[in-house]
Amino acid sequence: MRLAQKLAVHVVGAGMILATLTPQAQTPRKVNVAHRGASAYAPEHTLAAYRLALEQGADFVEQDLAVTKDGVLICLHDPTLERTTNVEEIYPDRATTVTWEGKTVRAWLANDFTLEEIKRLDAGDWFDVKFSGERVPTFDEAVALVRGRAGLFPELKTPEVYVGRSVDFEALVATALDKHALRGPRADPKTPVILQTFSEVSAKTLAEMRVGVPVVLLIGNAAGWDSVDRVRAWKGVVQGFGPAKQILLDQPDFVRWAQGEGLTVTPYTFRSADTGRFPNVKAEMEHFLYTLGVDGLFTDNPDQFPRRPAALAKLGPLSAAWWPASLRSPVGILDPHRAKRGPTGAQRGSYRPQGWPYDPGISEEARLTCP
Ligand code: G3P
Ligand code: CA
Repeated sequence: MRLAQKLAVHVVGAGMILATLTPQAQTPRKVNVAHRGASAYAPEHTLAAYRLALEQGADFVEQDLAVTKDGVLICLHDPTLERTTNVEEIYPDRATTVTWEGKTVRAWLANDFTLEEIKRLDAGDWFDVKFSGERVPTFDEAVALVRGRAGLFPELKTPEVYVGRSVDFEALVATALDKHALRGPRADPKTPVILQTFSEVSAKTLAEMRVGVPVVLLIGNAAGWDSVDRVRAWKGVVQGFGPAKQILLDQPDFVRWAQGEGLTVTPYTFRSADTGRFPNVKAEMEHFLYTLGVDGLFTDNPDQFPRRPAALAKLGPLSAAWWPASLRSPVGILDPHRAKRGPTGAQRGSYRPQGWPYDPGISEEARLTCP
């Protein structure tokens, strides 16, 4: 039985009025995740890129998270500042020597700078002078901009950087979600959150914490992912996978393996600058969404995301369609500061993680006709 059909059975069983849904109405919604914002057109991880992603109809806006010296979550892809800011010019003497993957380089580690120092940097000029003055946003600022208009898809980026630096990355993220009421029984239903990480350690930590929002394990290397057994081993730990797109081209069965276990598949990264054998990024995304059958994808070009109008006309609001069976089981939520003692009272087993269902109260047709 297909995931959407199973979902409909569940919802009807719960007494909700879905009995008149047609098969088309159960078509799973494909999810458009703006990768680092609309980063083909604006400097990645700036409010300008996030704003544009919203204007282009993204369902989720991705943030890569880093931690400043004073423990603030900021949106930054690299662990260092020099690629996307003018840090070398502003702080020429603040580089450290680091060895990564066998190479020793001078680098301006974000974790060596306070938020106040980072806010002095220009994060837009490197991309185009018209974006001069853009700053590195905090996660709080990203939430303030995106909430109620789309979901958030934060990645706990390069957690290995913080080893020995007194940073509890997972607890920081959980605390930030609490601060903005983005998890737990009173979480904002119009602002779903899905966490993602390449780190298997981090993914397991989030599961042990019962972080209360779905977690997607990113896969950059296909080694070992050649059977359904490896996929099954992650069931109950994460709720989906984010494989590099080449992994699915080489092994399309991965989609069936994951979805067969109730886990989502959201590959990365689809960009007009790199479309492989496809004539353009829209055609590439079309292939992954409607031939390979992935649930959604990360793209630098959210404006090119191919919707299917015939199915959308019957879809209505974003709904439980992208809601894996694994998320329908009660999952407790733990206070990050009490994680080791276990859930208590109302926390225990009574909470459904946020992220699915996602209903912003805007019909898909309305979204498509927005200027
Ligand atoms: O998180 C999905 C995708 O963004 C992973 O690649 O390096 O762009 O974070 P990266
Ligand atoms: Ca990412």
